[in-house]
Amino acid sequence: MKKKDNERFDAPSTRYQGSKRRMVSWLKNILVTLEFETVLDAFGGSGSIGFLFKSMGKEVSFNDILKSNSQTGIALIENKNVKLNVKDIEFIFNERKTESYPKLISKMYNGIYFLDEENILLDKMIKNIEDLSLLYNGKTLRYKKALAYHNLFQSCLSKRPFNLFHRKNLNLRTSNVKRSFGNKKTWDKPFKDHFIKFNKEYSKFVFDNGKNNMVLNTDIFNINDKFDLVYFDPPYCRKDSCHPQNYAEMYHFLEGIMNYNTWEHNIDNSRVNKPFIFKKNTWDCNLISNFDNLFRKFSDSTIVVSYGNKGKPTIQTIVKLMKKYKKTVITKSIPYSYKLNRNNGKGYREVIIIGK
Ligand SMILES: C[S@@+](CC[C@H](N)C(=O)[O-])C[C@H]1O[C@@H](n2cnc3c(N)ncnc32)[C@H](O)[C@@H]1O
Repeated sequence: MKKKDNERFDAPSTRYQGSKRRMVSWLKNILVTLEFETVLDAFGGSGSIGFLFKSMGKEVSFNDILKSNSQTGIALIENKNVKLNVKDIEFIFNERKTESYPKLISKMYNGIYFLDEENILLDKMIKNIEDLSLLYNGKTLRYKKALAYHNLFQSCLSKRPFNLFHRKNLNLRTSNVKRSFGNKKTWDKPFKDHFIKFNKEYSKFVFDNGKNNMVLNTDIFNINDKFDLVYFDPPYCRKDSCHPQNYAEMYHFLEGIMNYNTWEHNIDNSRVNKPFIFKKNTWDCNLISNFDNLFRKFSDSTIVVSYGNKGKPTIQTIVKLMKKYKKTVITKSIPYSYKLNRNNGKGYREVIIIGK
């Protein structure tokens, strides 16, 4: 292995669950040994691996079923040179006296995820981000908005206990108790401080790799294009569960923001955390037939899968399925500890399965 390949690789920071950011250097050392030009990051999430592919000079198609994640892809993978400047940030945070601002979050999510004044600010910011169209158009507008949403989403995650929206638990943040977890200082830090900090960080990651990278926002089974290599990091299914992790459930609030105009009519009000009602996802049950269908669909490409050794189906099963379509299948693994998991460090390994 060349010395250069061993260097630590930095992907943009994120608190997204299941992000591969902590293992990009390990993955890079494996991926550089494969020959490919075009690549699909099919379950793109926080974009760490899509960004790695971009940095490797590949032509990247980033996909994720969540619209909120597609903004990350547009901001950091498709975008070649657009950044948010100080004036843009002031526009996003300032109240224009001539405007009337909607109050959807203030009204529907009162006392659920953020403080009252933060809800008012979120309603205002969303309108202002959409109104960047008063200042820009075309691709510049597309990238400015995506960066603004990406900064906003990362700020929202930073301010949430567990960085999720799975429970109505604002009280974890506001109650006056001694805490054994979490970071009240970060939760209470103003949105604007988070946003500016993230903008400074992500601006450094905007670059042109000389390729026309693109972003898709669809269910994996709707993609019919051809790629030299496809990378699958699907929602993980633990052995004791019959369903994989439900990302739409964990990040529904961000999907609501991305569907602001129809959000109010798509809320499940029967549940206390009021989730945004998400469309059907094929990666829900029967993962054995899902993996099989996926490998058949992309059998012309080099296939790379990331999975956990404690997951369902087992690594042996996934390898067996891949061997139906690929001559050579190899696996590599490293120890991996999941944050916020009580079994941390007890035999968990992250596995990569490569079919050529
Ligand atoms: C384990 S995460 C991927 C993490 C990503 N590799 C990263 O480093 O951040 C799985 C992702 O798959 C997406 N997803 C779930 N079902 C999907 C489907 N049917 N088609 C496409 N994406 C899907 C989820 O929204 C989630 O972001």
